[in-house]
Amino acid sequence: MGITEPGGDSIEGIAVVPPGLEAPAAEELIALGCRAVAPLRRAVRFRSDLAGYYRLHLQARLPFRLLRQLASFPCHGRDDLYDGVQRAVDWATWLPPSASFRVDVSGTAPGLNHSHYSALQVKNALVDLQRQQWGQRSSIDLEAPDISLHLHLGGGLASLSVDGSGSSLHRRGYRAAVGLAPLKENLAAGLIALTGWDGRRPLADPLCGSGTLLIEAVRMALGRAPGLGPEGARSFALERWPDAQSALWQQEVRAASALARSCLADQQPLAPVLGLEQDPAVLAQAQANAEAAGVAPWIRLSGGDCRDFIPPEQPGVLVCNPPYGERLGHSDALEGLYGDLGRMLKERCSGWDLWLLSGNPELTGALKMKASRRIPISNGGIDCRWLHYAIR
Ligand SMILES: C[S@@+](CC[C@H](N)C(=O)[O-])C[C@H]1O[C@@H](n2cnc3c(N)ncnc32)[C@H](O)[C@@H]1O
Repeated sequence: MGITEPGGDSIEGIAVVPPGLEAPAAEELIALGCRAVAPLRRAVRFRSDLAGYYRLHLQARLPFRLLRQLASFPCHGRDDLYDGVQRAVDWATWLPPSASFRVDVSGTAPGLNHSHYSALQVKNALVDLQRQQWGQRSSIDLEAPDISLHLHLGGGLASLSVDGSGSSLHRRGYRAAVGLAPLKENLAAGLIALTGWDGRRPLADPLCGSGTLLIEAVRMALGRAPGLGPEGARSFALERWPDAQSALWQQEVRAASALARSCLADQQPLAPVLGLEQDPAVLAQAQANAEAAGVAPWIRLSGGDCRDFIPPEQPGVLVCNPPYGERLGHSDALEGLYGDLGRMLKERCSGWDLWLLSGNPELTGALKMKASRRIPISNGGIDCRWLHYAIR
């Protein structure tokens, strides 16, 4: 594959997404202009042009990574992998010896059952080629490589890709401070997308921790692109690729910046957004994060117990990720909390929709409420459900 032309769907990509968010992630990619979008397991396949690929890095909220496939070739063992990697792309362009790289691997093929070993095969293929061509080789850099390669093995095929961001896209840069068991930012954005909240009804998280759900919700409602920080676009690996088009990148950065508003798209004000947290240190982290994310003016954070939550008059959407015993607290002590939460909601939040992330079905039973939707979600490897309750 040679250098990319800006027009045409020259990029075949894979968005790596949190398990359970494949469907909303596919919708997001379509909304951002991708074509041939197909949800897979923990991933979404798409095609786009270079401008679209740039746009995804600036505006897509759900992916961890946006991989761009360099080559796909039959792979039935070690030798196929070694030869296929050497022939995959014009490495003189993509990986001169002055550039560092790293390789990550998923999947297996015959004789390639260990990702570490498969990664070594890829590395050997590349540095052997470089030594033949230049008498020098690239160094490996696991922390900040110039080129981050991903190999996926499966179904008799190897797919070799480059990672456009270099580090996981869930790190938006606003969260210096994390409370106990925080949600990753892209997972929080995906959970909010599943609620359908559009900024017109109040939103509240009565156990808000470091505020991730509320911050992502407000950033989404006010068009704040995840790839932009207070100082402009974050740095992405794709800006240093051989086919980088800086004018096109700047055009996408300007377009993403222009989306930021202080109200909804139709000029209506954002509905009230409220957070409650019992731990003063964690509450201070939430406030610091909201400020760093540029959304503090729209989020009212207060200290207190969720049992004392007083909802605004207009019914809205409650979101929360209470402790569920895996990482925080013990199930016995938590049953009381869930029981009290259920009572408070039924007494005071009639007409609201509740979305609760649960990693423990016994605890959610203590709510004594019947969920109308149960969406399987993996939160850092813990099998969870994003549960919807219509409180009536
Ligand atoms: C799993 S964490 C929430 C993480 C949050 N979603 C984030 O991304 O940072 C649960 C939070 O509930 C808070 N909490 C526990 N019991 C509470 C209560 N009774 N009232 C209010 N907050 C409570 C804990 O201090 C903790 O910060």
